[in-house]
Amino acid sequence: MTESTIDPIPEPVLDAAAVDMRFGGVRALDQVSITMAPGQWTGLIGPNGSGKTTLLNVLSGIYLATSGTVRLDGVDITKVGPQAVAKRGLVRTFQHPQLAETLTIQENVLLGADLARRRRVRTGNAAVDEDALAMLERFHCAEFASQLPAAVPYGVRKMAELARAVLADPLVLLLDEPAAGLSREERAELVEALGTVRREHPQLAVCLVEHDVRLVAAVCERMQALNFGKVLTSGTSAQVLANEEVRVAYLGRSAAKFDVEVAP
Ligand SMILES: Nc1ncnc2c1ncn2[C@@H]1O[C@H](COP(=O)(O)OP(=O)(O)OP(=O)(O)O)[C@@H](O)[C@H]1O
Ligand SMILES: [Mg+2]
Repeated sequence: MTESTIDPIPEPVLDAAAVDMRFGGVRALDQVSITMAPGQWTGLIGPNGSGKTTLLNVLSGIYLATSGTVRLDGVDITKVGPQAVAKRGLVRTFQHPQLAETLTIQENVLLGADLARRRRVRTGNAAVDEDALAMLERFHCAEFASQLPAAVPYGVRKMAELARAVLADPLVLLLDEPAAGLSREERAELVEALGTVRREHPQLAVCLVEHDVRLVAAVCERMQALNFGKVLTSGTSAQVLANEEVRVAYLGRSAAKFDVEVAP
């Protein structure tokens, strides 16, 4: 094999190393490391309370890690707050969607374009409304565009938050349980919409936290499993799902759910 035929190992766009997060006596994260390369989709799985949301909070600047480092696109963001982290290109959604309650669904989604402008990945107002509308349609919330968040179904709130995040055109997107609370039909729409996002943003790195392992396997080629704040294992989705410790950590929830189809 000549050198030119070897795939180069991509530089990570997100690189968190040896992160500890303690809350008093609780060690929510214990030496957790995670790297994400451009275009890579990583599923972050683990039982309730294993530290998934805490890790997303550290990566997005909401929590300041007790120790460890976080680098985004080569820059140390360990001590950078959430607004500045977003401006540097890391955007996230929340387990319970966070929308501006006094703005309509469309206005909320347009906030994503504002962020893209502040990051200078978008200039001026050209096509902003059309792009927002396309995003609303992709995430199946166009018919609710003019309504306030309080007036729309829960699934629409979740999809609108996702639409806003994608419109921000980030380098890294962290999704905290985007399918929780969605109907079966909405879940299928979500998987389809995420597939479109992947095709249209081939350089975007995504970390998807989700209990529905089938859904994770359908959209993520890589997985990392946490348990009690520690990394159990990481690798291809097939490797992680075959890992005995991962299976044991999930037993009691449903062992059968590991008989899943993994995305090629
Ligand atoms: N602000 C906080 N103060 C104190 N303890 C916290 C705080 N945030 C998280 N924890 C603790 O950290 C641990 C990990 O919680 P975390 O919310 O990250 O779990 P999770 O994997 O996201 O769980 P779930 O699947 O239920 O969402 C838990 O023991 C939780 O009680
Ligand atoms: Mg959580």
